[in-house]
Amino acid sequence: MSKVIKNGTIVTADLQWKADVLIEGEHIAQIGENLSGDEVIDATDAYVIPGGIDPHTHLEMPFMGTTAHETFESGTFAAAAGGTTMLVDFVLPGEDGSLLNAIDDWDRKSRDQICTDISYHMAITGWNEKIFAEMEEVVHKRGINTFKHFMAYKGALMVEDDEMFASFRRCAELGALPLVHAENGDIVQELQQKYLAEGVTGPEGHAYSRPPEVEGEAANRAIMIADAAGCPLYIVHVSCEQAHEAIRRARQKGMRVYGEPLIQHLTLDETEYFNKDWQYAARRVMSPPFRNKMHQDSLWAGLAAGSLHVVATDHAAFSDEQKRMGVGDFTRIPNGTGGLEERMAMLWTKGVETGRLTPEEFVAVTSTNIAKILNMYPLKGGIMRGGHADLVVWDPGIHRTVSVATQKSIIDYNVFEGMELKAAPRYTLSRGEVIWAHGQNSQPRPGRGRFVSRPPFASASQALSKWKALNTPRKIERDPMNIPAGV
Ligand code: URP
Ligand code: ZN
Ligand code: ZN
Ligand code: ZN
Repeated sequence: MSKVIKNGTIVTADLQWKADVLIEGEHIAQIGENLSGDEVIDATDAYVIPGGIDPHTHLEMPFMGTTAHETFESGTFAAAAGGTTMLVDFVLPGEDGSLLNAIDDWDRKSRDQICTDISYHMAITGWNEKIFAEMEEVVHKRGINTFKHFMAYKGALMVEDDEMFASFRRCAELGALPLVHAENGDIVQELQQKYLAEGVTGPEGHAYSRPPEVEGEAANRAIMIADAAGCPLYIVHVSCEQAHEAIRRARQKGMRVYGEPLIQHLTLDETEYFNKDWQYAARRVMSPPFRNKMHQDSLWAGLAAGSLHVVATDHAAFSDEQKRMGVGDFTRIPNGTGGLEERMAMLWTKGVETGRLTPEEFVAVTSTNIAKILNMYPLKGGIMRGGHADLVVWDPGIHRTVSVATQKSIIDYNVFEGMELKAAPRYTLSRGEVIWAHGQNSQPRPGRGRFVSRPPFASASQALSKWKALNTPRKIERDPMNIPAGV
């Protein structure tokens, strides 16, 4: 059974044109005019775009004394309904510290639940010989080429500079890409104690204790460590000008550094934490916190200018009850917000509809760029013969208002509640199967999603290791006659 998507305007990261897309099985078979197939999917007055890829989620994540309430089933359903056909979730080692056991654990949790494809990043939350050894199997046998390092969450997930340097060097050897959560965890902890001591116990204390400077310093430090280790670097949830400036500067020096702003930071600001309603403000507690307009403008400019590359969600969704763990002490509010279902439409509404982004840039930052960075392009992230038919018929004629009553997420609120979205998927296809059609009442089949294995040595990491090898400091050979006798 073949399918053909007809009469749409294809948008890729560099081009828009009118053409049909023929799908055979799971793959794109042909792109051209007047194609026919067994089944027709109508894209009249709509765009045909690569399925969204959200490279930053935490579904069912054990964190801060609880477990993120969004499941792999509800999270991937929300993703599909919003036009995202793949997400990359963070695997955190459990109490035994084993990376491999943690991956098994994530497989057990996700396997029967996912309706979209997924992949994993592996978190490095400490350093020892076992982790050093296991990293090789993670890359070569488990199909994971990315390792995440937390520079914050002191006493829990945080790693020190020497541990990060050791892990980054291992990444360089293995052709893997290190990721960082850039915030200075020591200073955050000091500031938290200061504000608590001053009686600031509400969610606003979360924002006060994580100022932009704390993020900028950590971003600069991570960039320096990656350069010394000889590997590229990907900075997650870039929220402020200070971190963006560090990335811009590094890139101008030829360093391969990538930046990932979140849809929440682009569209919600710090005043959310000053809301008189404790629960309203606590729902928005995440790290780094939302910033003011100057920072938001910087992030938008970075997406257009190419100094920031990917828009993600960091979907880490906790229920109202879980957020109430932090009543009387903001440091105990589980950190995280949602956005999987809204990411694409929010970015279109606030970006493309306003002229801040072109449709091509929208495709680049929601799908193509990350597929290249994670070394899975063009199987994912493009519209190309032979690639997976992960496609969205993207309809700017469908407008809707975000409401907890209609969302697919199982969380009891939505941080975008009441906002009007000016586009939606008419159809979402995952490997050739229509898993979501606008207005559909049923849910895509849990368990149909697959794990996507990603090989090491993406093109940028190969180029960088070649350059580093050519420019490595070398021993100077000297004639013994020119070396004075030692004392
Ligand atoms: O607040 C956040 N971002 N929660 C999820 C964990 C992380 O830092 O990515
Ligand atoms: Zn983080
Ligand atoms: Zn995260
Ligand atoms: Zn295939």
